Amino acid sequence: MDQIRPLLSKAQSVLVFCLKPQRITPSLTYCPTPLSIWIMVILQCLNPTGKLGNTCTVTFTGNQSLSYFANLKNLCWFSEPKLEEEIMKLHNVVGNATVEGYHIVVGTGSSQLIQAVLYALSDPLNEPKPISVVSAAPYYSSYPEVTDFLRSGLYKWAGDAHNFYKDGSYIEMVTAPNNPGGVMREPVVNRAQGMLVHDLAYYRPQYTPMTGPADHDVMLFTVSKCTGHAGSRIGWALVKDINVARKMVKFIEINTIGVSKEAQQRAAKILEVISDSCSQTVRLPELDNFFEYGQQLLTERWKKLREVVKRNKLLTLPTFQIQYYNFTGDFTEAHPEDVDCEKLFRGHGILTRSGKRFGSDPKCVRISMLSWDEEFGLFVKRLSTIHGIANGN
Ligand SMILES: Cc1ncc(COP(=O)(O)O)c(C=O)c1O
Repeated sequence: MDQIRPLLSKAQSVLVFCLKPQRITPSLTYCPTPLSIWIMVILQCLNPTGKLGNTCTVTFTGNQSLSYFANLKNLCWFSEPKLEEEIMKLHNVVGNATVEGYHIVVGTGSSQLIQAVLYALSDPLNEPKPISVVSAAPYYSSYPEVTDFLRSGLYKWAGDAHNFYKDGSYIEMVTAPNNPGGVMREPVVNRAQGMLVHDLAYYRPQYTPMTGPADHDVMLFTVSKCTGHAGSRIGWALVKDINVARKMVKFIEINTIGVSKEAQQRAAKILEVISDSCSQTVRLPELDNFFEYGQQLLTERWKKLREVVKRNKLLTLPTFQIQYYNFTGDFTEAHPEDVDCEKLFRGHGILTRSGKRFGSDPKCVRISMLSWDEEFGLFVKRLSTIHGIANGN
């Protein structure tokens, strides 16, 4: 699991630098507003004057919400009806996922839902050996850990989906847009016995153009990446098959006997305010459209970053398209053999994550665009001091 920085959560990254001492690529022609920074954006967006902070206030009395149960009539008996309502409303406002005909399963972050869905998909197969779990590199760095941590007999991490040739059942995690990198993704393996889990944590208008409501079998979302409230630990899955949804609910029942009601109610309120911010009729005058504001702020940051990288003879900021190919191998020839980009950055006071953690190349690093303005300024300043590789790094 990523280290969580105050209020920024482990959200992400998105930005991959490739070391290219031989040449400078002025590659930043297209920049979809990428991921993590948005968490900070929402903090500013929700609370630019203090008024919006009050709009999101939720109070609890001491005798409220004591029971384990939230809605006994519901398949997901621990989900708060208000949260379900706001989840559906927000998906409809944003147009990023179909909700009709889906079962909503709430989880303690989408991290818990990843585990729940691995269980739900693999358990009914009764395979003698663990089934493979794959994702196209560079993949979200927690997938391998989450999959293998308990050494389950049901499923096992099998690495990069591009290199997966084993026969039989498998689960492919499709992260769209991807972390790291921000590119939209499609399944890679495409075989009959495959089961897909679409991790759509970042499929939001501030990160990527909405190309239409997604309607995959299993789709995972999280408040962490939607609003930056990673600490509330609320995620949800939209699941087509009722049996899969049931098994996920069972997993969560055994794992944590449901999901915190306080966190769900807070998340519901925040989602409501965001939906309202997009509405012409309900919106308060002081409420900026959440997604427009986020996009704008993110675009400004990228502009600053591009300016610094453009002046740098050592680093490149690939376009999203190029970046994908970089990670799949085409690009490696341009790089010197012995450069550890994470180490180089660390030497300049910038903490990054090596491409290695994402099943990729140590000549690439992921950095987070998510920070307070002051921190981002410092980052850009330090970045501008990187000019060469000393002693191999
Ligand atoms: C692609 C992706 N999926 C899932 C998660 C987990 O999010 P949560 O905070 O909801 O557990 C993250 C967090 O970084 C992520 O990047």
